[in-house]
Amino acid sequence: MSTEADAGDLTVDAQGVLERFEHDVTAVASLEDAEELHAAYLGRKRGAVTALFQALRDLDGDAKRAAGAAANQVRQTITARISDVETGLKDSARRSREAAEAVDPTLPGLPDPLGGLHPITQTLLEIQNVFVSMGYAVVDGPEVETDWYNFGALNFPDDHPARDEQDTMMLAGDLLLRTHTSPVQIRHMEENEPPLAIIVPGRVFRRDTPDATHNPMFVQCEGLVVDTDITMADLKGTLDHFAKALFGPETSTRFRPGYFPFTEPSAEVDATCPACKGSGCRVCKGSGWVELLGCGMVHPALFDNVGWDSTKVQGFAFGMGVDRIAQVRYGLSDIRAYYENDLRFLRQFTT
Ligand code: DAH
Repeated sequence: MSTEADAGDLTVDAQGVLERFEHDVTAVASLEDAEELHAAYLGRKRGAVTALFQALRDLDGDAKRAAGAAANQVRQTITARISDVETGLKDSARRSREAAEAVDPTLPGLPDPLGGLHPITQTLLEIQNVFVSMGYAVVDGPEVETDWYNFGALNFPDDHPARDEQDTMMLAGDLLLRTHTSPVQIRHMEENEPPLAIIVPGRVFRRDTPDATHNPMFVQCEGLVVDTDITMADLKGTLDHFAKALFGPETSTRFRPGYFPFTEPSAEVDATCPACKGSGCRVCKGSGWVELLGCGMVHPALFDNVGWDSTKVQGFAFGMGVDRIAQVRYGLSDIRAYYENDLRFLRQFTT
């Protein structure tokens, strides 16, 4: 049997539970603490509020109603307070996470250092552009060649000094590192039919001791035009245009007789020095002229070697050292700087 006094006790108990809760809640510092508090007051097994409801079983009538109302009131208050505390904790956790991850999208980005084209590549691209704009195709070929393509097919006599091991880097058997880009003339003619107009940029190799003007690896650009009715005048006009396009419209060219086994007649072409415009300076060693390239009319033996009728087609060819042209263009005294990869040197050429 329950009494009024019992109901009063329970009401007072509810008040006590609430007061204890108000004390405990101030110590909550984390979501785990809040969960723990929830279990201690509202948990089904050991919750203090749950205990208040269990105690109602022993009451009747008005006492039960009063105590029940008090327990309900306390449960509501505590439930709401715990949920407020949890929300507050979650909010502040989110705020500190956001502060840690904060990004200012208005800050300027960090610039990536930009690379640049190597001065030889820049010069080569300019050379290519001049010929591509005249309709030439750009072709390449292997750096490892056979004796036949590098020499024999190009009409080198067997005793020609360029075949000497002094100049050529020999590989196993019949193989060698090409000493010039001219073998691609043969390879291209074998695979194609006239008419044709090509340029062939590429690396070449020679057994040279490096010095201010020599490097065992350097870059050449070859040219070959084959058609019917090609004359030396076409060659001269083409190369004069090339020199003007590369060094400026005021540039002149001069053709000196030369010798190459694969051209007949052969010529060496000079251009007015782009550094001093012909008045004489350090770059042209006072002469006013710089060597531009070697050239000539394709020797009929080459057409025979690729099975073309040398009485029906003619052609001209030329070959230039790109390192050398870049050296003249930039007034560089020592070409070894091209291959040393010193960024202080290379950065001077970035645009
Ligand atoms: N192959 C020559 C050399 O390496 C350059 C050359 C000269 C190429 C005359 C040619 C040419 O096609 O006609 O020195």
